[in-house]
Amino acid sequence: MLILDEKKIRKGKPIGLPYQGSKKKISKKIIEIIKQNFGTDKIIYDIFGGGGAITAEFLLNGLSVYYNDLDKDATDMFLKVISEDKEYLKTLLVSREEFFRIRDKDDKTVDDNLKLLINSFGNNSKDYLYGKEHADLKYRLAVEIVERHDVFSGYKQTDTWLRRYRELERLQQLERLHITNLDYKSFSDVKDAVFYLDPPYENTKQYYKGDTFDSQSFYDWAYEMSKKNIVLISSYEISDVRFKCVYEFKTAKSTLQSGSAGKKVREVIYGEIVTQSCGFLFTERR
Ligand SMILES: C[S@@+](CC[C@H](N)C(=O)[O-])C[C@H]1O[C@@H](n2cnc3c(N)ncnc32)[C@H](O)[C@@H]1O
Repeated sequence: MLILDEKKIRKGKPIGLPYQGSKKKISKKIIEIIKQNFGTDKIIYDIFGGGGAITAEFLLNGLSVYYNDLDKDATDMFLKVISEDKEYLKTLLVSREEFFRIRDKDDKTVDDNLKLLINSFGNNSKDYLYGKEHADLKYRLAVEIVERHDVFSGYKQTDTWLRRYRELERLQQLERLHITNLDYKSFSDVKDAVFYLDPPYENTKQYYKGDTFDSQSFYDWAYEMSKKNIVLISSYEISDVRFKCVYEFKTAKSTLQSGSAGKKVREVIYGEIVTQSCGFLFTERR
């Protein structure tokens, strides 16, 4: 099992878009686990980077990171948010009518995608946050999201935000942030690096622009990669016996909302697991 001395965790709030499957709630711990167990000399790859929570945390810890996601909208949104101020974020709050107008547009801008993300139910970018009957409350509720519900926590106080932004900007100038939008297999030739992998979950119907994610093929790739790299996979459960649990966040709670017939369902994530493959040195199967 990997170790984590919690006293060494960076103080301050985490950064990251309210993206589905975001690791913002545990990003500070994940980075600290990587630092304490594998040091800071290796190049780090956040291949399924999504809303950037893990990448932002690496940067705030002074480390370089290769931030990749097949979905360019995700990396564009992250970049936009870290390069704007809180007043800009407030302009992203939109009414129900505006939301549906944007949703039906063919060519969406980065701002459009951000508006859909932050104004949607469960951050699914499809359904407006509040039902028609509450439309008159939309502005107050939307302001609440930014001001009180901590959707953009880390950006709450302008000073704090600016400090972080300046730091991130400086880190970018130092070329610590490398952004790509490739399929994970494009990284097959990388050696001697740390891979933090947070793929679409097994048995979860997740599509990227019409494609389903083939988990078994991903595990085969990750297993091969683990022979020449440190490979960490974040998941609730992995059916492939070549991987073992190396750290479990027993207290990592997150609420996922899913809508069925307009009903809100609350889910508690109780066992976020970081799994390291047992390749190369640990070839024994369980
Ligand atoms: C669970 S989310 C990652 C969440 C992220 N760690 C965060 O904190 O926001 C999985 C991501 O994998 C991306 N993805 C799906 N298929 C991919 C592929 N073949 N190659 C690279 N990224 C992929 C999706 O676009 C999605 O953003």
